[in-house]
Amino acid sequence: MCGIVGILGKTPVATNLVDALRRLEYRGYDSAGIATVESGTLVRRRAEGKLRNLEKRLLTEPLEGHTGIGHTRWATHGRPTERNAHPHMTAEVSVVHNGIIENFRELRADLEAKGHTFDSDTDTEAVVHLITHELHAGKSPVEAVRAALQHLQGAFALGIIFAGEDDLMIAARQGSPLAIGHGTGEMYLGSDAIALAPFTDVITYLEEGDWAVMHRSGAEIFDKDGVRVDRPSVKSVASSLLVDKGNHRHFMAKEIHEQPEVISHTLANYMDMVSGSVRFPELGIDLSKINRVTISACGTAYYAGLVAKYWIEKVARVPVEIDVASEMRYREAPLPADGLAVFVSQSGETADTLATLRYCKANGQRIASIVNVRTSTIARESHAVLPTLAGPEIGVASTKAFTCQLSVLACLAIAIGRARGSINAAQEIELVKGLTELPRHIAGLIRNEQPFIAIAQELSKARDVLYLGRGTSYPIALEGALKLKEISYIHAEGYAAGELKHGPIALIDENVPVIVVAPEDDLFDKTISNMQEVAARGGQIILISDAPAEKISCKLAAHIHMPKVSAFTTPLLYAIPTQLIAYHTAVVMGTDVDQPRNLAKSVTVE
Ligand code: M6R
Repeated sequence: MCGIVGILGKTPVATNLVDALRRLEYRGYDSAGIATVESGTLVRRRAEGKLRNLEKRLLTEPLEGHTGIGHTRWATHGRPTERNAHPHMTAEVSVVHNGIIENFRELRADLEAKGHTFDSDTDTEAVVHLITHELHAGKSPVEAVRAALQHLQGAFALGIIFAGEDDLMIAARQGSPLAIGHGTGEMYLGSDAIALAPFTDVITYLEEGDWAVMHRSGAEIFDKDGVRVDRPSVKSVASSLLVDKGNHRHFMAKEIHEQPEVISHTLANYMDMVSGSVRFPELGIDLSKINRVTISACGTAYYAGLVAKYWIEKVARVPVEIDVASEMRYREAPLPADGLAVFVSQSGETADTLATLRYCKANGQRIASIVNVRTSTIARESHAVLPTLAGPEIGVASTKAFTCQLSVLACLAIAIGRARGSINAAQEIELVKGLTELPRHIAGLIRNEQPFIAIAQELSKARDVLYLGRGTSYPIALEGALKLKEISYIHAEGYAAGELKHGPIALIDENVPVIVVAPEDDLFDKTISNMQEVAARGGQIILISDAPAEKISCKLAAHIHMPKVSAFTTPLLYAIPTQLIAYHTAVVMGTDVDQPRNLAKSVTVE
């Protein structure tokens, strides 16, 4: 959740540390800080809030060291104040940390009993004092870190520098990603390769349990048992992925508008549009024999998985078990022998998803992951990787990653259906045709944003908003509500339309807008009945539908007219209006669209 960087440079590193942190701000933006070694002494600057506050501070109080570490924080332990901002330090050692030290209370109590004084409420400070304690006992920096790591429980990525050591940085990884960058006479450390892209494209990813001793001349890597290991250096493509907002006001707007293109790319990767067939990579499992698919993910990625449950069960006639990863990881779910488990994650670093993946792997499942970051931990720990070709998604609210995840999952459903013979070649051609036409329809839909802006003006006055849908439109209702609440801070809930009368209908009055996602499919009449129940109680209905006016018998506050598409592809298309409604409502509300409060793009803590 936090972003960490480190540089062993030839010149002062403060500017480059801030530059790298800017690329990591998607991981957290509660506070930021850097520390460098200057004439043998550790010096730091920290600031509450976004990185620009730290930058301002550095203008009046610059740092000159050639060795330094930096951090952008998403608060887990302690309020997002300057006092709790990283780096944390004593006179001897300075540390930046991403993750959670689970046993920090015990460590802190022990160290305080031994005379250490803590300055913050963070778990990280226990690491600083633990290393300091080992240094006071006469150990060298490397030996002190080696000893301290033995005591740490939890998930962490650490960057550590020392007073009096201008050519030394130590990195450690357990459960949180960490990449080492190789320069010419310079070395770098970052939570991901994108942070290091302006400096180097030669990257070594630390494996679980690894720690590294870095000098300007290179890095020595040790595994969790302290054995020296070789980890490959790879050429990163991150530098080609650096992005800006183009002509858009926000990354989210740009990413919504990129969808026709990135969905096309993603579909083209899994389909032969000429023959009308799905061309799915080998998953290392006989799809014709599987009798259950397990899907797990978090947030928006989970809703993509929920759509896939409907698709796979209908098209391939295979039962799908799906659960949010934060629940599935602890419920010791029984899994079928030789089953297929699918994990969906934009970042590929979500802690709960990764933990569930490991549980399923340990229980004999074949692991396929749908990720947007191919070098991510989830990708690296999977048997098969099914990339989404969405390109970097910077806005915290997931948009293009979601529809690209749906694109891959749609192809997976067709691939399983074909392998099992539940659909024939003609049906496959029909499904593929529907998907092929989608980017064109999406492009048409986003050409005119005026109707969404008008709806946003009204929604911005609401305290609560409900979203309703049936079948595959139910997960889209859930996703629409998530999108609205995360960036506009308006309370929103998604419900299966048929569930309304079992409780939520009590909320309906003339002040509650109800957004109904209702393509004219087999379930349309049922959803319309539920809509009438809302209308009868004065609810303000905003309908997203391709149905003609004569099929809609009640008064609407607004109607987003959708183009007719194949029933199979409606979740992909109907996601777009929910994104635009959320986006424009947030703009009207004046919130921080790309970096909404309390959130982070990559959730590497549980
Ligand atoms: O990187 P992941 O796809 O694993 O992230 C999962 C969720 O944290 C993410 O989808 C989150 O719900 C989004 N902010 C929603 O827009």
